Amino acid sequence: MRIARLASIVAPLSFLATTLVPAPVAWAQDAPAANGPQVRCDRCHNDPEFLVGKGGSPEEDVRLLVPPSLFEDTVHAKLACSECHLQYDDAYPHQPVKVTKTCAQCHEEQGRDWNVSVHGVDASGRGETPDCMHCHGVHRVLGADHQESRIHPLNEAALCAECHADSRIIDTYFTSPADSTARTAVETYHKTVHGIAASKMGLIVTATCSDCHRAHRILPSEEPASSVNPANIPTTCGGCHTGVSELYDVSAHGVALAEGKKNDEGHGAPVCTNCHSAHEIAPVNEPWKAHVVEECGHCHERLYETYFETYHGKVTRLGGELTAKCSDCHTPHSNLPASDVKSTVNARNLVATCSQCHPDASTNFVEYHPHGDHRDAKKFPEIYWSYTLMSGLLVGTLSFFGLHTVLWLGRGLAETVRPARGEKSDKKDDESGPGGPDSGEGASE
Ligand code: HEC
Ligand code: HEC
Ligand code: HEC
Ligand code: HEC
Ligand code: HEC
Ligand code: HEC
Ligand code: HEC
Ligand code: HEC
Ligand code: HEC
Ligand code: HEC
Ligand code: HEC
Repeated sequence: MRIARLASIVAPLSFLATTLVPAPVAWAQDAPAANGPQVRCDRCHNDPEFLVGKGGSPEEDVRLLVPPSLFEDTVHAKLACSECHLQYDDAYPHQPVKVTKTCAQCHEEQGRDWNVSVHGVDASGRGETPDCMHCHGVHRVLGADHQESRIHPLNEAALCAECHADSRIIDTYFTSPADSTARTAVETYHKTVHGIAASKMGLIVTATCSDCHRAHRILPSEEPASSVNPANIPTTCGGCHTGVSELYDVSAHGVALAEGKKNDEGHGAPVCTNCHSAHEIAPVNEPWKAHVVEECGHCHERLYETYFETYHGKVTRLGGELTAKCSDCHTPHSNLPASDVKSTVNARNLVATCSQCHPDASTNFVEYHPHGDHRDAKKFPEIYWSYTLMSGLLVGTLSFFGLHTVLWLGRGLAETVRPARGEKSDKKDDESGPGGPDSGEGASE
């Protein structure tokens, strides 16, 4: 009986409530989601009129407007609001204790990577580095393949440029001389083959900042775990230039890198960026190849010198673009010792190597030594002896004729001086001759 009385009071009240007052309880029931009954967030958060004044200021009111349509083309289209906003599904007014899941709670790997990155470490310090939402947005999180996304390959450089081309950030964080690349990173990137491919050719498979630096685990190049640390460069570039890195890995350079070997002049192995640079990567045309000769020369000083003593080197120095550069004979990425049968400079392969440019090259022709070194009697005895003999002959001839000329000159001088002295004394006589008698005459007059 008491229950019946209660029911008679409650029933009309609840009817009133559902018709007149916007009762959250009702909404909680009319949108059952996969994970249980749910509040229809959109009834309020998609109602601009309702939200007027609810945020405290017009800007805050706008922030509260989060219509479901905002999510339609995003990566989170299938997520319910309450999967991120826990404890909001108790409807309005919201509980004072509310939790919004962080991005990293669902994306653990990216969260871990970002935490150890320069950006993550600094976020808890000066806090001027980007967090997840800075790069991805909060609700409109678009995939990298979405044209409007800030992380789309064609938009990404602009995202990084927000800070990395901002003179205030640059002058705050990148002040030491070692930071020269960091200071000009964005500007130089746009002039590289990769930057031009993105900005002018619209090529989405080109290298953007995050392809080389990674998106989340961004570390300074001096850290061993950094994707742009020299030891990891071949893998980083090889992510796209797979064919090149496969050749490089089995070359003398790749093997020396893996084994930490140095050459006999004390230099370590070159990686892609030694020859190509990183923020100045240019098309590999002929003028660039001539420049790379200098690069090889940093580590192969002796062979560099001998190259410039030969025909090809001298022509290169004069600006000859078609003549042989180091990489024409040694290949750019399969540099191997001459003793290796796979090497382009192995005796077996020389005819093929030289005939790229000398179509008539024969086994005789390839006897020519592209590094002939007259100082090396063991490796190039004929060059050493012909140089020594020719030099001896030259020095002998020069000495003989030099001495001869000196003696001849002495003799010649002696012969010219002798009569000249006679003439000089005659002249002296002549000079005093006319003066004397004249004055004498004058005085006597
Ligand atoms: C009956 C209307 C109503 C419903 C339903 C509603 N909200 Fe709200 N919500 C508001 C109002 C008004 C505010 C702003 C005032 C406040 O924070 O209490 C707000 C604030 C918020 C905030 C910001 C809180 C802050 O402190 O920054 C979040 C997040 C939010 N709601 C999420 C949700 C989610 C998720 C749902 C659905 C599960 C939902 N709301 C359902 C009215 C509603
Ligand atoms: C992928 C997770 C995620 C989903 C899904 C999501 N939100 Fe949010 N939302 C966030 C985060 C993160 C914030 C920012 C919290 C902060 O700034 O502390 C936020 C902020 C808000 C705010 C406060 C306004 C502001 O800018 O601070 C409102 C209101 C809100 N969300 C409503 C919704 C509604 C309604 C839905 C569903 C239509 C929804 N959210 C879906 C993650 C999400
Ligand atoms: C409640 C868990 C959850 C939260 C919180 C969350 N996400 Fe997601 N996110 C997902 C799910 C689920 C997917 C879809 C995964 C898929 O398609 O394989 C996804 C997809 C993504 C993708 C696309 C992944 C891809 O492989 O292309 C990005 C980017 C992303 N989320 C970023 C964020 C950011 C930024 C935040 C914080 C604002 C965030 N997420 C918060 C669950 C979440
Ligand atoms: C500096 C900008 C930046 C920050 C900060 C950032 N991301 Fe990303 N994120 C990117 C870029 C760029 C990509 C696209 C990478 C690609 O296409 O290879 C990406 C991709 C993703 C993806 C797709 C899967 C993947 O790894 O490619 C997820 C998920 C993601 N980010 C989550 C997060 C989370 C979580 C955080 C915070 C802990 C975060 N991101 C911080 C720029 C950023
Ligand atoms: C919101 C500003 C901001 C954005 C956006 C941003 N960065 Fe940074 N980044 C910084 C700051 C500030 C530092 C310096 C942190 C420090 O030294 O503590 C930094 C450091 C770096 C470093 C290390 C520099 C060094 O000398 O070790 C690299 C590499 C880097 N960012 C790359 C990127 C890339 C790639 C993107 C885009 C995907 C990006 N950043 C987007 C602010 C930003
Ligand atoms: C093709 C790969 C590649 C691309 C693309 C690239 N970088 Fe770099 N970046 C490097 C390498 C490698 C270094 C290390 C220094 C060097 O070798 O010159 C570097 C150095 C830097 C540095 C100095 C910090 C350090 O670790 O030495 C910053 C900052 C930087 N890059 C930001 C960017 C930004 C921003 C973009 C996009 C606009 C970008 N990079 C594009 C490869 C790249
Ligand atoms: C010892 C110097 C050197 C190193 C190390 C080096 N390259 Fe090269 N690379 C060259 C030269 C020289 C050329 C020009 C070859 C030609 O056209 O004859 C070249 C050409 C290229 C080309 C254009 C295609 C071609 O073969 O002409 C690409 C792409 C390239 N290199 C990428 C890489 C990558 C990726 C790495 C690291 C795995 C790398 N390079 C390491 C010197 C080098
Ligand atoms: C995300 C993929 C990607 C990564 C990573 C990448 N590249 Fe490239 N690279 C390309 C594409 C695509 C082109 C062709 C651009 C064009 O032709 O306009 C290219 C062009 C080049 C060229 C010019 C080749 C020519 O014929 O002139 C060189 C050299 C080069 N890359 C070197 C490098 C080096 C060195 C690295 C690492 C520091 C690197 N790339 C990393 C995609 C990549
Ligand atoms: C950063 C230093 C460096 C640069 C730059 C460099 N090399 Fe090397 N090179 C080495 C090292 C180290 C070895 C391995 C020596 C060894 O294994 O004993 C090597 C080995 C070689 C070999 C195999 C012969 C041998 O002694 O093993 C050839 C051929 C070669 N380099 C040619 C070149 C050419 C051509 C270039 C320019 C396109 C070049 N190198 C640029 C350091 C360098
Ligand atoms: C015209 C072709 C040609 C050119 C150009 C050339 N080389 Fe060579 N290089 C050879 C031949 C052939 C050998 C092997 C015979 C020898 O040692 O003279 C060789 C030997 C070498 C070796 C030693 C290989 C070993 O097994 O010990 C290195 C290192 C080398 N060259 C580097 C260079 C560098 C650096 C340049 C450019 C400055 C260069 N070469 C230019 C053809 C050439
Ligand atoms: C990339 C092209 C190229 C390659 C490879 C090359 N050369 Fe040459 N070489 C030239 C050019 C160009 C000249 C100048 C020809 C002229 O005078 O018109 C030249 C000139 C010469 C000359 C002096 C002039 C002559 O024709 O007698 C000799 C000797 C020579 N090369 C030997 C070699 C040998 C040996 C090899 C292989 C180990 C070789 N070259 C590989 C381009 C090349």
